[in-house]
Amino acid sequence: MAQYTLEPFKIKAVEAIHLTTRDEREAFLRKAGYNVFSLPSRAVMIDFLTDSGTGAMSDHQWAGMMEGDESYSGSVNYFNLKRVVKDIFGFDQFVPTHQGRGAEQVLFGVVAGPGKIIPNNTHFDTTRANVEARGSEALDLLIPEGLDPTNRHPFKGNMNISALEKLIERVGAANIPLAMMTITNNAVGGQPVSMANIRETKALLARYQIPFFIDACRYAENCYLIQQREDGYRGKSVKEIASELFSYADGFTMSAKKDGLVNIGGLLAARDPALFEQLQNRLILTEGFTSYGGLARRDLEALARGLEEAVDEKYLAYRIGQVRYLAERLLESGVPIVEPPGGHAVFLDAKRFLSHIPLGQYPGEALAIALYLAGGIRTSEIGSVMFAHKNADGSEAFAPLELVRLAIPRRVYTQSHLDYVAQVISDLYRERDAVRGVRFTYQSPRLRHFTARFELV
Ligand code: F0G
Repeated sequence: MAQYTLEPFKIKAVEAIHLTTRDEREAFLRKAGYNVFSLPSRAVMIDFLTDSGTGAMSDHQWAGMMEGDESYSGSVNYFNLKRVVKDIFGFDQFVPTHQGRGAEQVLFGVVAGPGKIIPNNTHFDTTRANVEARGSEALDLLIPEGLDPTNRHPFKGNMNISALEKLIERVGAANIPLAMMTITNNAVGGQPVSMANIRETKALLARYQIPFFIDACRYAENCYLIQQREDGYRGKSVKEIASELFSYADGFTMSAKKDGLVNIGGLLAARDPALFEQLQNRLILTEGFTSYGGLARRDLEALARGLEEAVDEKYLAYRIGQVRYLAERLLESGVPIVEPPGGHAVFLDAKRFLSHIPLGQYPGEALAIALYLAGGIRTSEIGSVMFAHKNADGSEAFAPLELVRLAIPRRVYTQSHLDYVAQVISDLYRERDAVRGVRFTYQSPRLRHFTARFELV
């Protein structure tokens, strides 16, 4: 039997869930063109669309919001954040940004450009878009185990280091302004990266003098999984693991909407003073002055406190425990998921779940629709609707994986919510033959998943 980890908090304020019937959900879905992205949040009972900016802040963070010193420059809250950034990440030079893509836009606005190549274990879609918007190429160099949903490798997010070395030899270090590592690796299932892989990646890049940057949104979850899964780290605290991990980095971007435990915010840090000066100048042009970067100062205080709460191991045991609990409950019913579960989400394997639906009828999208209809659960397809591209002959090249992500917001849902979700999915799995595929009735040329409309086949 799956074991649930006690929540290390109790609830002070509650937010109503609007309970709906299946008939009501059918009507909402028709109006939304069968795209769960287009549903109003009031039509959703359990919202697993994203874990980004959807977490609950603590009373300590809310109290900090009241202590916002709304000075344009040099506010108290900026210095509090600076102290925490130094303490956890070991960086003296950083700027706040409004969210993760704000940091990406500033960084790639400075270092990227036509002809340049940015390697990453796997780019998140906004990271890729910011690299490509500068005329550079974004390359994903994942280990092969990462693309096999049944492979139980403990660090399926790892960088393929020999592929990285071949790339550097082929294109030359001068064309690679930096290499990035996304921890955890969101696009392939929230899978962690091992410390050994980070250390080896750094050593290789150092030989070619290529800066090493980390996409740190879910770094605390990654560090906790290193502690749980990697030899030599059992006895180390998550904070010690984080300090070692960031000691290998020349800089990082972070969407603080994940492991910063805030609803809005981001960070950008770099060790090289000359680069940092350029980043600051670009930040002022686009995000805001260097001591607030597009945020209210009360947001900086909430972030400083959130960063400290997110490395608390009792919190992380509960957080990762919740994801594992849902995964185990689903496995007990035979539901196919990406194994082992990663940090922030359970990913259903739609290819195996709906093996009767051909790829051309988008099994991932069909499953996301079915989950909403069956239980008011909103998830997101991470498959061919999101990632397919056109072959030269106009046919569709499908994505390597057809996944449905159940991203769990931090400190928001309780065990009974997860039990409800597990029950709805297990029941749906038993009745899976009745689920129908979908076809597009509208799609935009780029990022079609946000605005597409569908009908059931
Ligand atoms: N990098 C990673 C790995 C992410 O998962 C995200 C956001 C970003 C960068 C961009 O950060 O949204 O603050 O601008 N991921 C969200 C998600 C949107 O649902 O996974 P942002």
